[in-house]
This record gives sequence, C-alpha cells and structure tokens, in this order.
Amino acid sequence: MCGIVGYIGPRPAAGLLIEGLKRLEYRGYDSSGIAVVNGDGLKIFKAAGKLTQLEQLLDGRLPHGTIGIGHTRWATHGAPNTPNAHPHTDQSGRIACIHNGIIENAGAIRTALKQRGHTFKSETDTEVLAHLVGEFYQGNLEEAVAMALGDVDGAYGLAFVCSDEPNVLVAARKGSPLLVGVGEGEWFVASDASPLLQYTRSVVYLDDGEMAVLTRDGYRIRNLQKARISKPVSQIEWDLATIERGGYDHFMLKEIFEQAESVENTLRGHLLEDEGTARVTGLNMTDDELKQVQRIVITACGTSWHSALIGEYMLEEMARIPVEVEYASEFRYRNPVVDERTLVIGISQSGETADTLAAIREAKHRGARTIGLVNVVGSTIAREVDGGIYLHAGPEVGVASTKAFTSQVAALALVTLRLARLRNLSILQGRQFIQALKLIPAQIQQILGRAHEVKAIADRFVHHNNALYLGRGVNFPVALEGALKLKEISYIHAEGYPAAEMKHGPIALIDENMPVVFIAPRDAVYQKILSNIEEVKARRGQVIALVNECDGQVDRLADVCFEIPETLDLLTPLLTVVPLQLFSYYVAVRRGCNVDQPRNLAKSVTVE
Ligand code: AGP
Repeated sequence: MCGIVGYIGPRPAAGLLIEGLKRLEYRGYDSSGIAVVNGDGLKIFKAAGKLTQLEQLLDGRLPHGTIGIGHTRWATHGAPNTPNAHPHTDQSGRIACIHNGIIENAGAIRTALKQRGHTFKSETDTEVLAHLVGEFYQGNLEEAVAMALGDVDGAYGLAFVCSDEPNVLVAARKGSPLLVGVGEGEWFVASDASPLLQYTRSVVYLDDGEMAVLTRDGYRIRNLQKARISKPVSQIEWDLATIERGGYDHFMLKEIFEQAESVENTLRGHLLEDEGTARVTGLNMTDDELKQVQRIVITACGTSWHSALIGEYMLEEMARIPVEVEYASEFRYRNPVVDERTLVIGISQSGETADTLAAIREAKHRGARTIGLVNVVGSTIAREVDGGIYLHAGPEVGVASTKAFTSQVAALALVTLRLARLRNLSILQGRQFIQALKLIPAQIQQILGRAHEVKAIADRFVHHNNALYLGRGVNFPVALEGALKLKEISYIHAEGYPAAEMKHGPIALIDENMPVVFIAPRDAVYQKILSNIEEVKARRGQVIALVNECDGQVDRLADVCFEIPETLDLLTPLLTVVPLQLFSYYVAVRRGCNVDQPRNLAKSVTVE
C-alpha cells in the first residue's frame, strides 16, 4: 500500500509534495521520491529509507516547478532500494510515473519491451508501465496513458507527468484508491485525503476504470475509451488522524476489516487450479528439492508462532511430512537436531524479530534450507533466508497482529499444497483445497459484516478479569491466538488450551465468573467439543461458542452462539480467528485501553 500525491497549480510543487508524502508515511514506506516538471525538463529525486532520506538528498535545494508527483513506497515487487523507488520514467526519460498496486502482467510486457530495445533500471512493475506509456506517446500524454492501460492487467492507482507537457497531470484508477483534490485554481491527486486537507476538503473519488486529466484550468474525468464522466464533488469531514485510519477508530480495527482483501492479496497469483497446486517460486526450491524435504521445523514468536502451529496441522495432514514448531527464543539456544535434509520455515510479520532472526541463522549454520513467510519486503529475515513467500498483507500498524496472522495461515496453505501435491495429494483433492481457499475472502467479509453481533457479545463480558479459550485440532492454535489478542490489548488474563486438556487442571478454574470461549466448527472433533461444553456448563461456566450452526444442541448449552461459514477443517482458522480478533478489540475499547499501542508492547521485538 503506497502513498501517492500529485499537484498542478500556482504553488511551488516540490515542497508541497514532500509535505504531502509526510502525511502518507503511515501507509508504509521503505523509499520515496518526487518528480517535478519545469523549464529545464523533468527533475526526479528519490531515496531508499524514510522520507528524511529524500529530504537529506534534496538538502533544501528544491527543484522549481509548479507541477509534480510524489510517492512513498511499500515494496511488493523488488527490494526497497533507490533504483526501485518511484517515480519511474519511460525509455526517453521524459515521462514519470508513480503507482500504487500490482501490474500482474508486467513480466510479459517487460519481455516484449526488451525485445523492442527497451532497457530497465529497476525490478519494478511500475517502470514497465512507464515504458509502455512512453512507447504509445506521440505528443499526447492522456492518450498514451489510456492506450497503455488497455494492455495492463492488475490493480493500480497511478499518476503521470511529462516534460513535453508541463501543464498536464494524468491519473488513473483500477483497484487502488485515488482521488482528485479540487482547490482554488489548483488541483491535486492522492491515494487518500490526508495530504490535501491543508489545501482543500473538496474531493472527487475516482472509480475503477476512470482517469483524471488535470490542467491549469481545471480537471476532467474520463474512461479509457475517452468518454467524459461527470462525478460529484464530496466534502471530507474527517480529521487527519481519522483519514490515516481509513475512517476506523483504530488501526487494529482497520486491519481486522482489511482481511478479506489481505488474504486475497496473499493468495493472488499463487493458485494453479487446473494442476491443483500452488505456485511458490519464491521458495527458490525445485520440485526435486521440495521432494527431498524429510522434516520441517517452523520457528517464530507470538502470533506468528500460533500460525506456525496451524502450519504443523496442515503440513502433517496433507503433505505427510513430520513438523516441529519451535519458539524461536528456545530454538536458538537449544542444540536442535537440524541438518541439510531439514526445511526450516521462519514466520515473521516484521521480518525483524531478533529471536526469529537468530533461530534462522542458527538453522542455516547447521546446514538447513531456510524459507521465510514475511510481510515486510526487504526486511532482515526476508533477506537472510534462502527463499520465501511475501504475505502482501500491507503495512500492519496495530501492535496486536491480526491481518498478518491470517495471511501467514494462507501462505502456509500455499506451501502445504505445493508439498502435498508432490507427494500423495491427488489433483482433485488439490483443486478442492484451492476452491475452498478461493472462498475464504468472501467468507471473512461475511463475518466482518456481523461485527456488531460480536460487539454485543463483548459488551456482556467486558467486566470479567479472566477468560479461557478452548479449541481442538487445528483450532487449538486459534484458542491460543484468541487468548493472546485479549490479554495483549485488554490486559485481561486469558489462556488458550486444547479443549480436552481442560479436565487435566484448568477445569478447576470454571465457575460462573469464568467466560469460556469454545471454537467449535463442525469438524471431525465437533462431538468431542460438545462434550467439553457440557462439562463447563455443569460447573456453571459461561460459554461463548463459535459454531457453524447454532443448532439445538449448542443453543441448549452455550450462553452465546456465533455462527461462522463452513469450510475445510484445515482452513477453519482463517474464519474462526476473525470473531476472536473483534471480540478482543471491542472488550479492550470498552475498557478504555490503548488498542493500537498496548502498554509494555512493541510492534517489532528487535531485541532479545
Ligand atoms: C502479536 O499480536 C504480537 N504483537 C507479537 O506476539 C508478535 O506476533 C511477535 O512479536 C512476532 O512478531 P513478528 O511476526 O513480526 O516476528
């Protein structure tokens, strides 16, 4: 999720763009840049790292010019370095482009352009698009952009300027948000309203397939076929902080609600339904090498360790490979049995967790093949493993991890599918798994649409100071994750347990003051967990049950029932975790806790 800002009007553009990018840094940044058009042509400045690196590069010598574009990058294709930073230019160097999104057919276009003599300076899909526009350019930027976008698949929010046309800024949207800011004799484009508020609150939201053409006399909206489109001008009512949270009260809630999209982004481009398998070329392992894997160790911390446990169930059930899950902080100091036949998977949202990094280094030292399931592109873990899958969940700002967890589980499903199909999973079983995976984003969305029901449940339990989360099989790790969410943001003591384990001790805790959350989808152990609910009810415990159907059996037992859609047993965690994330959020808000930055916690634990 990158930040985009563009300007045309009477003011000096460079300073305005830099200030605008500062407002967009929350969207994630690992590099930034600006392009300004003036009498000397196109001036581009870009730098890896935080926006201050770009400011240092400029060192107060801002290029003059009253039209320009600026970008903060959250890398998806290509490492977060200066060559990959936006803006990118076409072959001639006269057209500059900034982009938020993913061009899915960039590889094919790059190959074709190379065959026509184009040379590229970066690994990005955006540069390919700039070159394509340049190839269509015959003196009309607007038309060149429209023609190029006709050849492009994928999602984009784009802006272009051209040194030959210093009075035109062209923008386009498909799948990534983009709006036009309408000022007094000046006009803007941006990914959201945050960089515009100090100039105007009047905006025009672009819809997919629409282009905006900004000149010094005004703006017009059109589609790729040149048809003019009339759009209403809206007034932004939000303050800056609210805009950064996308209108949600907290980043955590925003990120919970992003999960239908983030899981889809994790899966995007990986599912090969015809073959019933997953494309995981990023692992940098041939199928023969994957077939050689005799043992897997998954190492991580916190929430990522919980997703690792789910990976164990998936891999052992489908790929029949022995898996051990290790706390990274333990693994790094043990004398683990790891060798070249061991595949070590490191899971980390930040890619900077010190214990996980140390565990991976120890595994490499012992000859193991290492792969990473990481969200932050170019992070230390991502650079040190032998291969991996990026989560593409977008920046996760809330300290309590939510969308990264579901994306980690989705990524583990991809690795599992590839390995299983190289062993004894049939093509039909693979296709069934893929079809179930494809339904998950919509099913998550269905649950999110009933968040108000979860809020009502949370209101009933907000005053308790303890809670027990119980699950069986692949939902035991979900019980752990649900408990972690509650304790880390509401400071309520909560424990997760295998449901059957309750009678070996925790049942002593059960009384009318102990809420017990049961994760009870209609899977292979459903009847067993119903018995566990009976045991809790017999001791006056208060039961919240996550079920596929609030049937007569469960209704009679549970104090509260919440229905979740059905899916394959192994994929249920992608759904059962969502109500638990919402439950912990609403309880914490009711308790007045700092949801996005809970006490004592850091987003990334980069120290031991
Ligand atoms: C999860 O809500 C916590 N913020 C924490 O447990 C986190 O999952 C853990 O520190 C691992 O972080 P990582 O995924 O960035 O490695």
